Amino acid sequence: MSTTPTHWYKDAIFYEVSPRAFLDGNGDGMGDFIGLTESLDYIRDLGVNCIWLLPMYPSPLRDDGYDISNYLDVHPQLGNLDDFKRFLAEAKKRDLRVIADLVLNHSSDQHPWFQEARKGTSNPYHDYYVWSDDPHKYAEARIIFTDTETSNWTWDETAKRFYWHRFFSHQPDLNFDNPKVREEMLDVFKFWMDLGLDGFRADAIPYLFEREGTNCENLPETHVYLKELRAFMERNYPDAILLGEANQWPEYVLPYFGKGDQLHMSFHFPLMPRLYMAIRQEDRHSLEWIINRTPSIPETCQWAIFLRNHDELTLEMVTEEERAFMWREFAPDPRMRLNVGIRRRLFPLLENDRRQVELLHGLLLSLPGSPVLYYGDEIGMGDNVYLADRFGVRTPMQWNDNRNAGFSRAKPSQLYMPVIDDPGIYHYQAANVEAARENKTSFYWWLVNLIGHRKRFKAFGHGDIHFLQPDNPKIFAYVRSYELESILVVANLSRVPQPVELELSKWRGATPVEITGQTPFPQIGPEPYQLSLGPHGFYWFHLVTPDAA
Ligand code: GLC
Repeated sequence: MSTTPTHWYKDAIFYEVSPRAFLDGNGDGMGDFIGLTESLDYIRDLGVNCIWLLPMYPSPLRDDGYDISNYLDVHPQLGNLDDFKRFLAEAKKRDLRVIADLVLNHSSDQHPWFQEARKGTSNPYHDYYVWSDDPHKYAEARIIFTDTETSNWTWDETAKRFYWHRFFSHQPDLNFDNPKVREEMLDVFKFWMDLGLDGFRADAIPYLFEREGTNCENLPETHVYLKELRAFMERNYPDAILLGEANQWPEYVLPYFGKGDQLHMSFHFPLMPRLYMAIRQEDRHSLEWIINRTPSIPETCQWAIFLRNHDELTLEMVTEEERAFMWREFAPDPRMRLNVGIRRRLFPLLENDRRQVELLHGLLLSLPGSPVLYYGDEIGMGDNVYLADRFGVRTPMQWNDNRNAGFSRAKPSQLYMPVIDDPGIYHYQAANVEAARENKTSFYWWLVNLIGHRKRFKAFGHGDIHFLQPDNPKIFAYVRSYELESILVVANLSRVPQPVELELSKWRGATPVEITGQTPFPQIGPEPYQLSLGPHGFYWFHLVTPDAA
């Protein structure tokens, strides 16, 4: 454990992985920590710095592990605590950090706390959860899982009362007003941090408290609690991080950073759909709009930015018109939709168009924030919209063209989810790690390369952003600057070639050196700087000033 914070997350690239989906080490049809440990070289070779693990705790798995029945152990299907410790130690050896999901807001209804709580008001655990005799309490709180839930209250036959839940009805919300709950969660926190985790992704953070007359999101009490948690971290685990999941507009996320004394990082939810929107509209304005609307955050904080994750591509942070556009463009089949979002993977969303995939990564890896990649996207994995809920984007990792895509030795029918084997480009015989690595021109190698280039510059993780706003709305152009370093990014959001003139007088005399090939372009003179870009093309330039050269 280091004693001084290194702020490593500011420059980090995260890799989100489901231990259940990655590699099956014991042949039971389910990924596990033995398999994940064996895959660490693969993860390190991608060039990422930190693994984000989806929930690995004992659970009835009615929400893929986000329904926890014991916070202090590993799900037996994934291994045991020793397997987990070995995994952590092996990750450390490879300089990989590891954060895990911490589900504070709710437990499974199978958790012994809830089983006790149901027994009635006199049970000491009753107050661990949020109960009411009146299901109209907190009426202003929205329903999140609109496809499955009709109320945030569910009647419990045993307790003869209603209990509160912001997600599935089998996930009762814990009562954070109860100091005992806060203490229990601190113990959970300590338990995992003492094993050597580098921090947590704090799941569903806006919903911890409830207050009448509010929408029960982002309440001041939550910030008080987070400050306490952070102060405890600073004292005991100063180099660890809290990455919050607050699916909110930036002005509501800002308070979660506090004065640099709450969350270290937070996902930038509203940026994500706009990355997709911008390339379909062939117009940069929604991107500039959302980034301009994003307030600056304390120096030691960082955004986590992403294209896809294990959930539906959420469309909560767009207007109704934009949502209709996104649904029309990206989810024409109703089966592709879920709740307020789209349950598809990156490559199918972009119709397997390599140029668009590269362009979105060119933006993801150069916009303010630390990129979070989702397992399988680096090898162009497809999805299965016929699987329920969000499982279509959580199918087994595709390693090679052997049985079960090399994921497991089990019988195919034994797998926790089928591998993608519909004939075509997403079949695991085509989209797999081995094939991607054998082909030197694959997206996989392209990405590994780009990640390597990103790491040479501090400006990506630390710099501010200045939009150049050329007349051509199809060109998105910005400069990221940090100390003496300036990176110019120019991207063509359209499917056809585009010219652009850039106002770069501030950098007059500098030479734009294209970063991936280190090729110097013409020096910036007094005239607007002219470039042409191919379909969905983009450039990253290092602006080298004469004195620096
Ligand atoms: C978070 C998770 C999601 C889960 C939900 C309820 O939003 O990302 O997968 O279903 O919390 O725990």
